[in-house]
Amino acid sequence: MDGDDKLYLGYSDIHRTVKQLSVELGRSGYEPEVMVAIGTGGFIPARILKTFTGLPILTVGIRYYTEENKPLPRPRTIQWIDEVEKKLAGKRVLLVDEVDDSRVTLSYCLRELLRHEPEEIGVMVLHNKRKTKRDVLPPQVRHYFVGREVADIWISYPWDAQDIDEHEALAAAASGS
Ligand code: G4P
Ligand code: MG
Repeated sequence: MDGDDKLYLGYSDIHRTVKQLSVELGRSGYEPEVMVAIGTGGFIPARILKTFTGLPILTVGIRYYTEENKPLPRPRTIQWIDEVEKKLAGKRVLLVDEVDDSRVTLSYCLRELLRHEPEEIGVMVLHNKRKTKRDVLPPQVRHYFVGREVADIWISYPWDAQDIDEHEALAAAASGS
């Protein structure tokens, strides 16, 4: 981590975290049939997970923050395809996102998806921030996979980088490699 209290993570860090999560998923006995990636942060983690699991990916888009980074009164669905709902009925689903922060978006999304009667929904996030959460996961969620527990600091993901070389250098320096 560097002095401005951000956690810089490079693409290789993310890839390794997802691989490790795929191993945990395998050991858990939970056998999802389909992933649902929450856009946009969940897209790249889900795609990497497909490399290790071969699972197909459906996507949903949810927005909780405005462009100015202010929270909306509640999360809003901004892309919610009817086809996704039909494809979830009776299925074992794995919901994938990059970070469990306040838990508001994640819980909202889970409640929406549970309305479509999947057999089961598990959750996978790269990172969980250790903090007081503002919502709870629905009790139907029995499998919750976290790649890495982190403090309540800002995580700088490689896909947000304007200058990927500078970003990867910061990530490498922080990890001591
Ligand atoms: P949660 O349920 O998953 O905890 O999410 P929450 O409602 O608290 O809002 C999460 C939004 O804030 C998400 O963006 C998430 O990506 C972003 N976020 C939270 N903490 C971090 C962090 O440390 N680093 C980065 N880069 N983003 C963080 P979003 O508005 O849903 O949009 P998108 O970025 O996924 O497209
Ligand atoms: Mg997100």
